[in-house]
Amino acid sequence: MAILDLEAGVEKPHALFFPFPAQGHIKPTLQLAKLLHHCHGFQVTFVHTEHNRRRLLRSLGPGALEGVPGFRFVAVPDGLPPSELDASLDLAALLSAMESLGPHFRKLVSDLPPVSCVVSDIWHVLLTAKEMGLPCVTFWTGNACGFMAYQQVQTLVDMGIVPLRDVEQLSNGYLDKTVLDWVPGMPKDIRLSDFPSFIRTSDAEDPILEILLRSMACHRTTPSAVILHTFDELERETIAAMSAILPPTYAVGPLPLLLDQVSGGVVVESSLSKENHACLEWLDGKWPNSVVYVSFGSIATLTTEQLVEFAWGLASSEKEFLWVIRNDQVNNGACGDHHPAAAVLPPEFFEETKGRGHVTSWCPQEAVLRHEAVGAFLTHCGWNSVLESITAGVPMLCWPFGVDQYTNRRYV
Ligand code: UDX
Repeated sequence: MAILDLEAGVEKPHALFFPFPAQGHIKPTLQLAKLLHHCHGFQVTFVHTEHNRRRLLRSLGPGALEGVPGFRFVAVPDGLPPSELDASLDLAALLSAMESLGPHFRKLVSDLPPVSCVVSDIWHVLLTAKEMGLPCVTFWTGNACGFMAYQQVQTLVDMGIVPLRDVEQLSNGYLDKTVLDWVPGMPKDIRLSDFPSFIRTSDAEDPILEILLRSMACHRTTPSAVILHTFDELERETIAAMSAILPPTYAVGPLPLLLDQVSGGVVVESSLSKENHACLEWLDGKWPNSVVYVSFGSIATLTTEQLVEFAWGLASSEKEFLWVIRNDQVNNGACGDHHPAAAVLPPEFFEETKGRGHVTSWCPQEAVLRHEAVGAFLTHCGWNSVLESITAGVPMLCWPFGVDQYTNRRYV
């Protein structure tokens, strides 16, 4: 199935992209869509949730998603109650809500020109696409080692390792001491503590663990192919091992570098928060490799106590720093535009670090990492951040918060 391009007189494939509705998934998926459009002429339908569409329009400007040649942007409800645009993301609730996307997806497809293929990392979208007879592809926006770890969770359940026997195993060294030397394509000394955070549960009926197991089975059996956002030189062994258990598997990346090679490409962006460019000017005034860039990605939250303690650690390091504190970064109070999370920091911190510290609520991260003044990245190890740091040649200090960040930290 394809769209007839009357001007060119040829049929162009029409791909529908539907990423999991979080920043770290939307950005690489849009990058892949741009590449397929630019290099292979794909017509693109890109699906956001209505909540994220409102955020994007606020961040990018009201007309940002219209009139983009070759791209159609559409939205479906995410199934969650309406929330503040700046409210921090409830990952568990969103994962559960994705299970009811099927009917919205069917309606969406029936209103569109014929779809040639569906590209998604939402297992329910892949299943529905297959039921509708549409070819579908998993685009796993993370890396091979994280995906391999997720794929082992059923084995860990079968072995009685997960769920944990009791919560004490989270803090008594058990996760570090449990070595999983049998995982294909991973180092022989990989530990349970290096596995994604979904295994850190002692609830025998943990609904999120259930969803994870179903989704991993789906990625093994439903799509025609699996695309990983990584590259062979980085993860050759793990990619080879993945190929043995998944449908045909391909590595594509790093997408930011591949897109650099596309000139005159589509310019539409995907930042859910408004980027503050003043930090680039601030960096212009700094010596090469002198600044530590600090960011914990788009989802991780801290308590006020952690944020304040961390701030004093940063101040005591006596390094120059650029620190992203999202407006929704603090998880023990209502934050938003009127009460940005950075407001919980004491005035003495800003006095102490005046001139050598710059705090912002969201920055153009790729441009920051490529700036010559940035010499290190203190990161939560979200996969996009790690890949962007590798491609910019910036060394990393790691503080993982959850999901695949523990695995990424180990590999960094
Ligand atoms: C989470 C997971 O940790 C990640 O591994 C998974 O693949 C996706 O979900 P997130 O917390 O969003 O991701 O981190 P990360 O993967 O690093 O993505 C954040 C993105 O936001 C990066 O592309 C980064 O460039 C961008 N960003 C971050 C900005 O543009 N500005 C900022 O100020 C901070």
